[in-house]
Amino acid sequence: MQNPSGIKKPGVFARLLDKWIARYAQPYAAALDAVAGLKPAVVVTGGSRGIGLAMARRFAKAGHDVAILARNSDALQEAAAAIERNFGVKAHAIIIDVTEPDAPRRLDTQLAERGCYMDVLVNSAGIGLSGRFESHSEKDVVHLLDLNVRALTRWMRHALPAMLARGRGGILNVASLGGLAAGPYQAAYYASKAYVISLTAAAAWENAGEGVRLTVLAPGPVNTSFHEAMGAESSFYRQLLPALSPEHTANSAYNGFVLGRCLIVPGVINTFMAVALRILPHTLLLPLVGWLLRPREELQNEKPNDGEH
Ligand SMILES: NC(=O)c1ccc[n+]([C@@H]2O[C@H](COP(=O)([O-])OP(=O)(O)OC[C@H]3O[C@@H](n4cnc5c(N)ncnc54)[C@H](OP(=O)(O)O)[C@@H]3O)[C@@H](O)[C@H]2O)c1
Repeated sequence: MQNPSGIKKPGVFARLLDKWIARYAQPYAAALDAVAGLKPAVVVTGGSRGIGLAMARRFAKAGHDVAILARNSDALQEAAAAIERNFGVKAHAIIIDVTEPDAPRRLDTQLAERGCYMDVLVNSAGIGLSGRFESHSEKDVVHLLDLNVRALTRWMRHALPAMLARGRGGILNVASLGGLAAGPYQAAYYASKAYVISLTAAAAWENAGEGVRLTVLAPGPVNTSFHEAMGAESSFYRQLLPALSPEHTANSAYNGFVLGRCLIVPGVINTFMAVALRILPHTLLLPLVGWLLRPREELQNEKPNDGEH
C-alpha cells in the first residue's frame, strides 16, 4: 500500500513490510499506466457513520485520501467535510447504493472524474436481522444477503484484479466475531459473516506475496446504531458483552491491515471469545450464543398469557 498524499513518509519498517507483502508481485506496466496521473484513494463503503466512518477517519489520519460511500446524502457530506477539516486530505462523498450491480463500475468513473482511483477498498456497509429466522420477510433476508454477501463479493471481485495487476493496494472486509459461530436469533446475519471470513481468508491465501493486502475484520459488539436498527438492543449480549468504540475498532483494523494480517479481532476480550468460539463444541455454543442473542420480546412472547389461567 502506498502513502498517497506524501504527508507522511513511510519509515524503514513500513518499507520492509511493503516489500515482503509484494515479494512475488510483478506489476503490469499497462495497469500502472492506466492510473498514471490519478491519486490513490481509500474507498470505504458504509462510510457515513459507525465503523465505516471511523475506518475512513483512521486512513485519513494516516495521510490517505478517502472516498466514503453511502445512500443518504446529508450525513455523508458532513462526514467528508469533517475529514477534510480534521486531517487535511481529500475526502470524496459519493452517494451510491453498493448493492446495485453496476455500482463498482460507476464508482470507477466517478473517481476518475475526480482525479483518483481505488487503491484500497474497505467493505464496511452491512446490516443485521434480529429474531427467529422464519419471522423475517423474504425481502429482508434477501436484502441482507444482497448487501452483506453479494455486494461485498461483487466489489471485491471487481477491485482485486486491478490491484493485483498494479502489485499493490488492499481489501479490508468487515465481517464479525459472529462469523465464527452459528447465531440463533441472528441466523442469516451470522451466516453471512461466516461467508465473508471464509472468502477473504481463502483469497488472501491465494494471493499471498502479490502486493495486495487481503484482510478480514471480525469485531465483537461495537457501539453504533447497527444494533438498534436490527431490533437487537434488548438482547442480553448488549447488556453483558463489553462493546468497543468504532474508533478503537478502526484503529485495530488499520494497524492489522498495515501489518498484512489476514484476520483481525479487535480487543482483548474479543480475542478470548474468538478462541472460545473456535474450540467450544456446538452442543455448548449454540445454547449460549442463542441465549445471548435472543431479543427479550421473544422471551415475553413465550410467557403464558395470564388471562388464560
Ligand atoms: N456494530 C457492531 O457491533 C458490529 C459488530 C461486528 C460487525 N459489524 C459490521 O460492521 C459493518 C458496519 O456496521 P456499523 O455498526 O458501522 O453499521 P451502521 O452504523 O449501521 O452503518 C452502516 C453504514 O452502511 C451504509 N449502508 C447501508 N446500506 C447501504 C447500501 N445499500 N449502500 C451503501 N451504503 C449502505 C449506511 O449508510 P446509508 O444508510 O446512508 O446507506 C452506513 O453508512 C457491518 O458490515 C456490520 O455487519 C458491526
